[in-house]
Amino acid sequence: MKAVVANDHGGVELAKTILEHLGKRGIEAVYLGTDTSESVDYPDYAEKAVKEYRSGSYDFGVLICGTGIGISVSANKMKGIRCALPQNSYAAEMTKRHNNANFIAFGGRIDYPEPVTQILDSFIDAEFEGGRHQRRIDKMMALEGK
Ligand code: RB5
Repeated sequence: MKAVVANDHGGVELAKTILEHLGKRGIEAVYLGTDTSESVDYPDYAEKAVKEYRSGSYDFGVLICGTGIGISVSANKMKGIRCALPQNSYAAEMTKRHNNANFIAFGGRIDYPEPVTQILDSFIDAEFEGGRHQRRIDKMMALEGK
């Protein structure tokens, strides 16, 4: 598997944890930063990650900002992207099974009820169910640009 990972200054530490975890799982990760605490703009990192995702044979992307909100909303403005911002492992699993999300976002300043690596694993290990969920995704994606 291959993933692209990007974050703003609010996600530097969590990105390190996630990269280490992906490495342990044998998932190739391309990291686009930022890797310092200097203030940057999260839409720039969402854009970089989505463009990289589109350019290669990626399985998914991971985006992190302080809350996960700004960077996920930014990614979701880009064509073909379904970036989930799960509250827990259940939501992370279901967003793959039902929404076939291709990006997952986290907040580096958020207290999650479980380790983020566990939430991420629930997303990675789930399978899209297709069927009626594909119909709903088709309708969701048809909303782009409206
Ligand atoms: C940056 O201070 C912060 O606004 C950003 O990381 C994110 O939380 C925005 O949604």
